[in-house]
Amino acid sequence: MNLVYAPIVLIGVLIIIAVILIVVEKLLGGGGERVLQINDDKIIPVSGDETVLNTLSAHKIFIPSACGGKATCGYCKFKLIEGGGPIKATELPFLSPAEKEEGIRLSCQVKVKENMKIEIPKELLNAKEYKTKVSYIEDLTYDIKLVRFELLDPKEMHFKPGQYAQLKVPGIDIIRAYSIASHPKYTNQIELIIRQVPNGKATTYVHKALEVGDKVILTGPYGDFYLQEQSNRDMICIAGGSGKAPIRSILYYLRDQGMNRKVKYFFGAKSKRDLYYTEEFQQLSKEFPNFEYIPALSEPLPDDDWKGEVGLITDVVDRHVKDLTESEAYLCGSPGMIKACIKVLNNHQIRQENVYFDNFS
Ligand SMILES: Cc1cc2nc3c(=O)[nH]c(=O)nc-3n(C[C@H](O)[C@H](O)[C@H](O)COP(=O)(O)OP(=O)(O)OC[C@H]3O[C@@H](n4cnc5c(N)ncnc54)[C@H](O)[C@@H]3O)c2cc1C
Ligand code: FES
Repeated sequence: MNLVYAPIVLIGVLIIIAVILIVVEKLLGGGGERVLQINDDKIIPVSGDETVLNTLSAHKIFIPSACGGKATCGYCKFKLIEGGGPIKATELPFLSPAEKEEGIRLSCQVKVKENMKIEIPKELLNAKEYKTKVSYIEDLTYDIKLVRFELLDPKEMHFKPGQYAQLKVPGIDIIRAYSIASHPKYTNQIELIIRQVPNGKATTYVHKALEVGDKVILTGPYGDFYLQEQSNRDMICIAGGSGKAPIRSILYYLRDQGMNRKVKYFFGAKSKRDLYYTEEFQQLSKEFPNFEYIPALSEPLPDDDWKGEVGLITDVVDRHVKDLTESEAYLCGSPGMIKACIKVLNNHQIRQENVYFDNFS
């Protein structure tokens, strides 16, 4: 072949390969126009090969995705009505038999390869993406920081006390969930309480790099862990580590309502250096006889000179509560702590439907 024609032949071959790839993709349902219909009304045109999660987020519908789409949190559930293909192995660990039956799927695992009909809870349509600026950072302990974000655009987030937001770590594609620690009446700022996880991606960024003035993207609000406002049951709150965040928001809210419900708040820590906001909650218990704050140390140090409760938080709760048939419980912390506490509450006849928890997994 004449060398002069070689580039032309090469380009021709590449064009033919590209056409074949497009045809194959279309035959497999990957390209072309499709629609995603949400809750029987909103219709989104889809052309790429994206997941339901990314398609929704591109159209400003933000569903919880605490692991950022890696199929490790199980938070991004939606109901598949039509299309979408069979359940993938990656979804199985997060779906109960009833959920499978109902068509519940993980939006980060299902791609929009054909016309699809889905349902998502109405309240998720309220979650938005917020441009924020860090306005304050405080060390609460050696490994826990309070970070306050001023909301720039939109300027207000309306959330229920107990709900969480998601923080996007700039530069790396990481999203993490953090409970909102501030009073819901302050709609133009959000406070988060963030504990450093050794080698954790998001928490290392927050603890080592984040500074006042930095711009950060938050989404939210999310979550079905929030104060049951219609109830007037006695409340048991149990938290460990940064689990204090959503309970703080709940308690601020109750304080403004006059603290008309009886609340026992147990906070578990290892030693005195892990305690924070102690004076704040002790002050609250002086103001409101209905409120009792019970911090407990599992391994107090000799120098701690600790006169309060000692032991695992489960044992302390066990010692302090009686019949819980008419009580409501709010638990926040590690999955292990929550599981152990629910066992103790069950021994005191709490009703399952009155137990609310957020696993910080
Ligand atoms: C609904 C919800 C609310 C949450 N609220 C808060 C909050 O208010 N404050 C807060 O500090 N965190 C909260 N978390 C946890 C938070 O989302 C992150 O998981 C945590 O900050 C670790 O993120 P990372 O990127 O630093 O660690 P990663 O890089 O994800 O993890 C690094 C390593 O640490 C392990 N690891 C991950 N998380 C933890 C943990 N919590 N404890 C011990 N080891 C861990 C991982 O298995 C991994 O081996 C919440 C989680 C959920 C789901
Ligand atoms: S986003 Fe975490 S499982 Fe889908």
